[in-house]
Amino acid sequence: MTYELISPSCPAEWAVYHDIRRVVLFENRGRVGVYDPQHPDEFKPNHFPKLLLFDKISVGVVRIDIDDEIARFRRVAIAGDQQRRGHGRKLLSLAEAFSIKHHARRVEASVAADAIEFYRRCGYQALRVLDAVGSVRMTKDLANG
Ligand SMILES: CC(C)(COP(=O)(O)OP(=O)(O)OC[C@H]1O[C@@H](n2cnc3c(N)ncnc32)[C@H](O)[C@@H]1OP(=O)(O)O)[C@@H](O)C(=O)NCCC(=O)NCCS
Repeated sequence: MTYELISPSCPAEWAVYHDIRRVVLFENRGRVGVYDPQHPDEFKPNHFPKLLLFDKISVGVVRIDIDDEIARFRRVAIAGDQQRRGHGRKLLSLAEAFSIKHHARRVEASVAADAIEFYRRCGYQALRVLDAVGSVRMTKDLANG
């Protein structure tokens, strides 16, 4: 069982990266027809789109935005039929290792209400509620391992 966190580099990898995001984070939440794969935030030099492979199969995505000592994890998602198998925990762990290599000392994430417990179980602490639907800013200190 081998995990890899790769940067999409060919049309097929970009397609599955956007498919997982569009379906899990938009369409499954009732937001159909609004996902934009060409959003400018995808192309900034300090933003790193990542695809999680499990035994060469694409199972999840994250975009890691490095801002000095802070890494912001954006649009974390595991494909629907792959959830609750430990892939999400591994995704965060590999994204944290990537962030440490890029000199980040802390991770921040804006977490949907139904994902707060997942982040908490992966060592993240809630900072503050962000909006009326219960999204929460969560953080993890990387400097202490
Ligand atoms: C949230 C998500 C990324 C978690 O990934 P996953 O692969 O399903 O999670 P894992 O199997 O690695 O779970 C890790 C731990 O979190 C727990 N967990 C995962 N999802 C959970 C949830 N929705 N509610 C409560 N606990 C959850 C698991 O039980 C596990 O706990 P344990 O190891 O202590 O027993 C994934 O389910 C997903 O993509 N959900 C839809 C999109 C989403 O909510 N993304 C986050 C946006 S902020």
